[in-house]
Amino acid sequence: MTIPKSFLTIVFTGLILMMFMTCGIAMGGEGQKAKTLDELAARYDSGSCKECHEEIYDQWAHSAHSRSMVGSGAGRTRATFKTLITRGLMTWEYSGVKQPEDVKIEHLMVCARCHLPQLSEASDDVAKEIVKAVWDKDNEKLNKLSINCLICHQRNAIIHKWVDGFPQKDAVYGTSDGEHESEDQPAVKKNPIIKESILCGQCHGLGPGFGLEQPTQCATGYGSYLWSYIPEGGSQTCQECHMKKFNKGHAMPSYRDFDMQEAAVDMDVNVFSYHWRKNKSEGIIPIALVKVALTNKTGHGIPDG
Ligand code: HEC
Ligand code: HEC
Ligand code: HEC
Ligand code: HEC
Ligand code: HEC
Repeated sequence: MTIPKSFLTIVFTGLILMMFMTCGIAMGGEGQKAKTLDELAARYDSGSCKECHEEIYDQWAHSAHSRSMVGSGAGRTRATFKTLITRGLMTWEYSGVKQPEDVKIEHLMVCARCHLPQLSEASDDVAKEIVKAVWDKDNEKLNKLSINCLICHQRNAIIHKWVDGFPQKDAVYGTSDGEHESEDQPAVKKNPIIKESILCGQCHGLGPGFGLEQPTQCATGYGSYLWSYIPEGGSQTCQECHMKKFNKGHAMPSYRDFDMQEAAVDMDVNVFSYHWRKNKSEGIIPIALVKVALTNKTGHGIPDG
């Protein structure tokens, strides 16, 4: 029996395609959904990084990224999640949420796509745990989940996955290819965007999230960076100003930091005083002309978010 060559080519190409697809799913797929909050936290456990990268870990632990579900103060972000549910979701006719118990992952992703992107890998049971923790003001529980080392150096390290491949669980992504001393991630792979603003831009907002059934808007810093700072001749990256300039590294501070405050605006005040004859009854009165010029020296509009 002779098998036509074209048939073989099709079978062969099909096999290769299937291989690629399986690889794609194995590497890029999210596998089984985490059933508990602890299971999701364990999947992205960055505790081991502390052993060898102590200084970086400490800086990160003081950053906003380490409490991205809780926020500043007593829990500004946590409190706003509650507002989303009670004043948003529960009042919107078509949201599918009548009471807090109805909240699913898809509802939380409205915020978590930036505040906790790995939440997309969790089941709706985890949504219930999060909602309960929000109601109980349980910051400790919510802080088990955050934008930690494995989010920037693995899960969200690659944006163009069809070009650069899907992030691998057994590698961390840094500035160059090589071996990595760690047991769980024995390789360092070069992340093409680690020094680029787009790495930060994926969560720092362009405007309304049009891809969603219910677009929301929070941070818009990356939008103003792209459309105002860059066109006006700005040439620094987020990393240069927030990590390098004042050697703040992974603390990535903003207005709560003195050096960053100082670097934020140029203020030029010009005062000219004179006497002015207003009218007959009030006569000559002293008057001052105050000119204030504020120049934003950051890479985006301020304040934001
Ligand atoms: C047993 C020690 C050890 C552990 C654990 C460890 N690392 Fe490393 N890592 C190193 C050493 C050593 C280097 C190379 C020197 C350096 O860049 O600090 C390195 C390099 C890196 C780099 C590349 C830096 C570059 O040049 O761009 C990244 C990224 C990184 N580690 C992230 C992590 C993360 C994330 C974790 C936790 C999941 C982790 N490491 C756990 C020891 C470790
Ligand atoms: C496009 C990504 C994105 C989305 C979507 C998003 N956020 Fe944010 N959010 C950020 C970033 C980035 C910051 C901090 C930076 C800033 O101020 O620009 C922030 C800041 C905040 C702050 C202030 C934090 C503090 O500690 O003071 C609160 C509160 C907040 N977000 C709540 C929410 C809630 C609730 C939702 C959903 C309704 C949401 N965000 C949706 C990215 C986002
Ligand atoms: C919000 C994103 C983000 C998080 C979270 C993050 N990193 Fe990084 N990390 C970066 C970026 C960006 C650079 C590269 C900075 C540069 O060189 O421009 C970097 C650089 C590094 C480097 C190499 C350069 C250096 O400073 O020695 C190591 C090692 C590293 N990170 C480890 C970690 C560890 C460990 C954690 C968790 C404690 C962590 N990172 C959390 C974004 C992040
Ligand atoms: C995975 C999403 C994500 C990535 C990637 C990310 N951020 Fe953020 N960032 C956030 C969120 C969410 C917040 C606000 C957390 C909160 O307070 O609720 C934040 C807060 C901040 C803040 C405010 C800190 C403060 O003191 O108020 C700065 C500055 C910042 N990020 C800089 C960066 C830089 C620089 C990068 C890239 C190297 C980066 N971020 C990458 C999500 C992200
Ligand atoms: C030219 C330097 C510079 C560049 C570039 C820059 N920033 Fe900033 N950024 C600052 C300074 C300075 C502040 C402090 C502003 C203040 O005191 O209000 C700041 C503030 C912030 C804040 C807090 C905003 C708020 O609510 O007031 C966030 C978040 C932030 N930057 C993220 C980013 C991200 C993400 C990028 C890249 C897309 C970036 N920055 C690029 C200098 C820069």
